[in-house]
Amino acid sequence: MRGKVLFVIFIFQVLLANGQSIQIIPSPANCELKNGSFLHVKSWVVQCENGSEKVFNQFADQIKNIGIDLPFQKGTGKFVNLYLRCAQEDLEGEEYRISVDSDKTIIESSDEVGMFYALQTLVQLAGIKTAENNKIKIPESTIIDKPRFGWRGFMLDESRHFFGKEKVKQLLDWMAFYKLNVFHWHLTDVQGWRIEIKKFPLLTEVGGVGNYSNPDGPAQYYTQEDIKEIVQYASERFIEVIPEIDMPGHATAANKAYPEYSGGGSERWPEFTFNPGNENTYKFLTDILREVTELFPSQYIHLGGDEVHFGNEQWKTDSLVQVLMKKHEFENLTQVEFYFITRMADSVSSLNKTLIGWDEIISAGVSPEQCRVMWWRHNKPEQLMQGLKSGYKTIMCPRIPFYFDFVQDSTHTSGRRWKGDFVTLASILDFSKTYRNPLNQYPSLIAGVQANLWSERIHSDERLDFMTFPRIAALAEIAWTDKPKVDYKEFVFRLQPFLQLYKKQGISYFNPENRDETPEVKGIVP
Ligand code: ACM
Repeated sequence: MRGKVLFVIFIFQVLLANGQSIQIIPSPANCELKNGSFLHVKSWVVQCENGSEKVFNQFADQIKNIGIDLPFQKGTGKFVNLYLRCAQEDLEGEEYRISVDSDKTIIESSDEVGMFYALQTLVQLAGIKTAENNKIKIPESTIIDKPRFGWRGFMLDESRHFFGKEKVKQLLDWMAFYKLNVFHWHLTDVQGWRIEIKKFPLLTEVGGVGNYSNPDGPAQYYTQEDIKEIVQYASERFIEVIPEIDMPGHATAANKAYPEYSGGGSERWPEFTFNPGNENTYKFLTDILREVTELFPSQYIHLGGDEVHFGNEQWKTDSLVQVLMKKHEFENLTQVEFYFITRMADSVSSLNKTLIGWDEIISAGVSPEQCRVMWWRHNKPEQLMQGLKSGYKTIMCPRIPFYFDFVQDSTHTSGRRWKGDFVTLASILDFSKTYRNPLNQYPSLIAGVQANLWSERIHSDERLDFMTFPRIAALAEIAWTDKPKVDYKEFVFRLQPFLQLYKKQGISYFNPENRDETPEVKGIVP
């Protein structure tokens, strides 16, 4: 009861005198409301100063794509009511300041990305309006805001199921709305190779055939032109795209196309690995990476490195692996795996890129300067702590609460669980509490957070949306806003206009506060 009363008081504090409310996600670092008055505007007349015009145009495109159609026009002189000013020296990169007073709004930032984020905030501050209802009323206020983490990521697995360019673009538009800035693209795995490599065309022609639901489905993949288009689209939204080419495990699709580089597999995971004993494997993979790195301007390339033990049984009997083991006096297959990883890390360095790997690579002996690590095995906190103690820059994506292929409600039947545990909206919002020890002990080594959407159980756009929305909003909240605790009820209050926007846009989402109206969108595979 006491909790309820406090919540109602809180809601009244965020509701302004005549019902307007501040419902911004992620919440800004500092937001000061001035005396309950408003700036009323019929339409925005925008004056772009100091190189802010390009970013304004990018924003206008992106916001329209997610269903927000605000009346903006560019202008000068006395009708101007919105001033955009980049190149402000007192602000940091990504930081912005919004000042709303009785006759105008001024937005300032040091760089384009800060301006872009400020405009996302402005749309929300005005109370997400769509074309049908576009009278604008903004609380007089000052907002000064910057992100908690530099890495605010979302990973999409397109090997298990392929979603295609339009869906990826839509996802990028929503990521930008929530100020997420890294798109990790899982492009190769057991079920399909999804990126064209000109030197090895069979990777897509043969390796691109099928998916998790239908192993015989037609080849689906991105051409190099498609990749460039997505990278450009993302960069206009200030999102960096990181490709993942998984190795030495999860290589089945590649091995289907070029069996000469296969290191075999196990009964459950046939043809799962590349062959670490074959010198030509390193040349093959480095040639692939050369083409990949030319397509992605990011400093980073992700080489996976996870779960090799699933399918490296045949290494025990492979003659080339045996020669390698003798030569280096390796005593077990783990040493072979680590040898492969360190060689490929050198290969990545020779291409002037930085390796990212799943947390297994901490044990491989790649130097902390040479890589970034994604900690995913939430059941192995000792791996996280060992990595941090040794100085590895780490992106936090423990299965719980960051694997969005896990179910999000006790009543749901499609999706993963871990010993009964799953990923609720509340569990994401509790991130800072759950992981306070590593966050407090190693603040400079934790580069950020990321959600991973594995797609074994996600076969359609509708199900992709259902597993993503609104958990992506909770991800943004903890990625951007530096708070030791997020109040669940207060977050749900802020979420309401976003749920309405999802509905308007035909996005199937889950509302944990209204299960009946948002029934589970099930997968083919439970
Ligand atoms: C993973 O989930 N295998 C990184």
